[in-house]
Amino acid sequence: MEQLIAICRPGFETEAGRELTDSAASGEVYGYFEPSVNQGFLTFHCPGPGQVEMLVQRLSIDQLVFVRDWFVVLADVALPTSDRVGAVIDALRSVDGAIPVCARIEIRLPENNADADLSNFARKWVSPLSKALRGAGLLEKDSKAESPARLEVLLTGFERAIVGFSLASNRARYVSGIPRLRLPASAPSRSALKLEEAWKVFLPPGQELDYLGSGKQAVDLGAAPGGWTWQLVRQGMMVTAVDNGPMNAELMASGHVEHVEADGYQWRPRARCGLDGVRYRRPSTPNLGDGRALAVCQALSLYRFQSETTDEKTIRRVVGVQGHPGRRPCTDGNELPAEGPSPLPRS
Ligand SMILES: C[S@@+](CC[C@H](N)C(=O)[O-])C[C@H]1O[C@@H](n2cnc3c(N)ncnc32)[C@H](O)[C@@H]1O
Repeated sequence: MEQLIAICRPGFETEAGRELTDSAASGEVYGYFEPSVNQGFLTFHCPGPGQVEMLVQRLSIDQLVFVRDWFVVLADVALPTSDRVGAVIDALRSVDGAIPVCARIEIRLPENNADADLSNFARKWVSPLSKALRGAGLLEKDSKAESPARLEVLLTGFERAIVGFSLASNRARYVSGIPRLRLPASAPSRSALKLEEAWKVFLPPGQELDYLGSGKQAVDLGAAPGGWTWQLVRQGMMVTAVDNGPMNAELMASGHVEHVEADGYQWRPRARCGLDGVRYRRPSTPNLGDGRALAVCQALSLYRFQSETTDEKTIRRVVGVQGHPGRRPCTDGNELPAEGPSPLPRS
């Protein structure tokens, strides 16, 4: 099909498409994009044979800012009302060329999907579709087997599925680039999810404990009511929470938090600190610890910054300096997709 589906935040399809077109061209893959307005994905067309595979071999998903995830298209399937599974199998059997070995399937919906029936259908369809694909030899027998690729299905509605594959070596760490996080009832604010997303996305995999964890110290500037502080305390850290506003009483009872009622712009730590969770723009960030701690602090402020700017060059400049992946966080400064209860203060 010589097409790639690129997933992005809804409303950023054009930015993602331009970014992909330019990045692909720098790897000598030439194509054009077709945005799907506000649906959080775009189709990238590469007219030359083998170009899409070349693109995912040459360009790393981590180099992209607006494109959060992607997959190579194998077939665009019109789904009948009677046998949707059969239609997918027929389409995959008619694909020219080899399909990489896949052990599992991921069913996705457009990011802006508001159709609860379609969501239910997608959830319930995974099992019968996987079983039938396994029976047809289109998925590995063992769903837990390590495989170089994963089958992908983007259900744009009940009538259409875009089917393809993503490579294990070059796709987002989290499906669609977004860790789906659960907000525990004890979290003082929904902000807690932002910090969790930031460290899941920005900290190098497997090295989280170099930055977070028992015995380490953190400073939370503008901390009230305490969502970020709460996350750090959950890691066993001691936190200095700087804010003139009130902190969550239960969190304070943990004994891990020193609440300093002060202006965060003026306040300076008495001693070196491990992690500085700066969360509002300021001309300079106090150096609270060693370079590594500062990198985390910068990653966190970058996270905030990235959610507020749409200028790719600016993001790239900051990201390039800091060596962090340039992924745009999914929050727009207000919301993260979350599971669980959430009648909590917005941040
Ligand atoms: C959006 S809330 C932070 C929510 C917090 N991140 C959480 O996780 O629950 C912003 C906080 O910044 C505080 N703030 C704003 N300017 C400040 C300053 N100059 N110094 C200290 N705190 C400040 C406000 O009092 C407010 O509590």
